[in-house]
Amino acid sequence: MYGLVNQAVQGMVIAGFGEDVWDRIKRDAGVDLEAFISMESYDDSITYSLVKSGSAILNMPPEAILRAFGEYWVLETAAEGYPELMQAAGSTLSEFIGNLDQLHSRVLMTFPELRPPSFKCKEVNPGELSVTYISDRVGLEPMVVGLIEGLGKHFKTPVEVSMVNTSAEPSAPAEFLVRYGATERPE
Ligand code: HEM
Repeated sequence: MYGLVNQAVQGMVIAGFGEDVWDRIKRDAGVDLEAFISMESYDDSITYSLVKSGSAILNMPPEAILRAFGEYWVLETAAEGYPELMQAAGSTLSEFIGNLDQLHSRVLMTFPELRPPSFKCKEVNPGELSVTYISDRVGLEPMVVGLIEGLGKHFKTPVEVSMVNTSAEPSAPAEFLVRYGATERPE
């Protein structure tokens, strides 16, 4: 994944636990780099190793780290670093989720080696979305939960996200049910 992602992992760890803990995680993960370059593409194994070592050193399940990272990504990396892209993707939670593929297509213009996920979104009941997530990577579903929870905070809309099923293999769809708050429902 692009260095931007690993930099965000670094930012989240340092903000929560300090530089020393980050150095320990990096060492444990066998990452022998002084710093990540945001526009450079790194092997996915680096990101997965950072999560694995973070889990061991912070004594947190990897799923919890991925979930916290999803929220951090939306609220810190995306909202702070890419406000125009975020604004262009929609002004409500459901509109925004429906435009995620378009958002990543725009990101592709700056990050040409991007391998973006794909999301489909359907309103199954008022205030209830069925979200399908397709990726050529495995195991990132807990991060999607955190991303959607982060979007709820971003749009000040209460959300409750549950995983309906995860994908066992790359490119198989995973499904989530998203219940979201009254603020978006029609009168
Ligand atoms: C302006 C904001 C955003 C930018 C700049 C951005 C950029 C990126 C980048 C660089 C990657 C790494 C992929 C790679 O290097 O191949 C990525 C992955 C990903 N993004 Fe975004 N993204 C943004 C917003 C979002 C939001 C709001 C979501 C919410 C669902 C999201 C969901 C994901 C997921 C799930 C992945 C993991 C890749 C995978 O599943 O295969 N992104 N994004």
